[in-house]
Amino acid sequence: MAKPTIPMIRNQWYVAAYGYEVGRDLLARTVCGEPLALYRTEDGDPVVLADRCVHRRFPLSESRLDGDKVVCGYHGFTYDKTGACVYVPGQQRIPRTARVSSYPVAEQDSFIWVWIGDPAQADPTAIPRAPWLADDEWTSVYGMEPVAARYSLLVDNLLDLSHETYLHGGYIGTPEVAETPITTEVDDDAGIVYVSRHMADAECPPFYSESTGLSGRISRWQDIEFAPPCLYKLHSRIAPVGSVPNDDGSDPDAFHVEVVYAITPETESSTHDFWMVARDFALDDQGVSDFLAENNRTVVLQDVEALDVLERVLTGEPDGYQELSINIDTGGLAARRLMDRLAAGESTAAAAAVAR
Ligand code: FES
Ligand SMILES: [Fe+2]
Repeated sequence: MAKPTIPMIRNQWYVAAYGYEVGRDLLARTVCGEPLALYRTEDGDPVVLADRCVHRRFPLSESRLDGDKVVCGYHGFTYDKTGACVYVPGQQRIPRTARVSSYPVAEQDSFIWVWIGDPAQADPTAIPRAPWLADDEWTSVYGMEPVAARYSLLVDNLLDLSHETYLHGGYIGTPEVAETPITTEVDDDAGIVYVSRHMADAECPPFYSESTGLSGRISRWQDIEFAPPCLYKLHSRIAPVGSVPNDDGSDPDAFHVEVVYAITPETESSTHDFWMVARDFALDDQGVSDFLAENNRTVVLQDVEALDVLERVLTGEPDGYQELSINIDTGGLAARRLMDRLAAGESTAAAAAVAR
C-alpha cells in the first residue's frame, strides 16, 4: 500500500465555515488550496469570492464591505456579490477581465457549504445532511481545529475507532473498542461507507458516564456513516447492558449521541477539522454541554497531535514504504477506494475537457 494520499477532490461540497462565523465582516478561509473571502449580504445570504483582488492581489478578506459590495482595501476596485468589478479608480472604463471568481454556496444544517470545482456541476440537493445540529430536539456543542496534515489522514483516523483505546484512554477509549471486531459495508452507488462496532458489555468511559449518569457496564454501539470526502457521522448509542431498541425503533432506555465531523482540505497538507457532538438527553444542562465541549475538544486535539506527527513522518519518508493493513482498516480502505474513484473521475473529466 502506498502513501495514504488522495488528491484534493474539487467537484464536491465542503464545509467552509459554521453559519455563525459568516456575517458582515469578511472572513478568510482556504478550501482545496483556494483562498476565499466569505460574507453575508444585507439580506443575510452567504457569499464566497476568491480572496485575491484582480488588480494587485490584495486579499478581499482584508478589505471592507459597502452594502453588498466589497471595496478592495488597497486601491478601491469594487466587486459585487457575483465577483464582477463595478468600479475602478481613475477611469470610467472597467476592463472586461476585471472580476474575481464567485463560488456556489449553500447554507444547511448550520454549515456554510462551498463548491470549489466546476460550478455547472454544483447541485445543492447533493449536500449530505447532518440534521441534529439545527434541531431543537437535540443539543449540540462544536468547534473547529486546524490540522497540519493531509485530509486523508483524518479520514483514516475517523474510520478506525480502535485507536480510541490507545490514543483516547481516560476519555472515550476503553479496552472493548479495540477488542471488538467491526463490520464494514459500502454502498457504491450512494458512495457511503458504513462501519459498525457493537459492544454488548463494555466499560463506560468518562465521556459517557459523566454526561449520561450511567455507571458500571454498558451496551455501546458505534455506527459510522461516511459520505466521502467531507461528511462523517458517528451514531453513538449508550444504554444499560441488555437494552436494545424496540421493534418500532423507539429506544427509551438509551442515550444517543451524534458525533459529526466535516473534513475540509485546506491545502495538500492541512485540513479544517470541524467537529460537533449532538445529544438527545440533558438538553438544557449547561454543565453537560460544557463537559462534552471540553472533553471532545481534548479528544480532537489528541488526534490533531498524532496526525501532525504522521504528516511529518510521511513528508520525510522515502518512496516505496509499505503500509500494513489488518481487519480494523477495512472501513478506512473502503473510504480510500471511494475517494480514489472520485479523484479518478475528476482527472478523467479534466483530460476530456483538455482533449475537446
Ligand atoms: S489590489 Fe485591489 S485595488 Fe489594487
Ligand atoms: Fe480519535
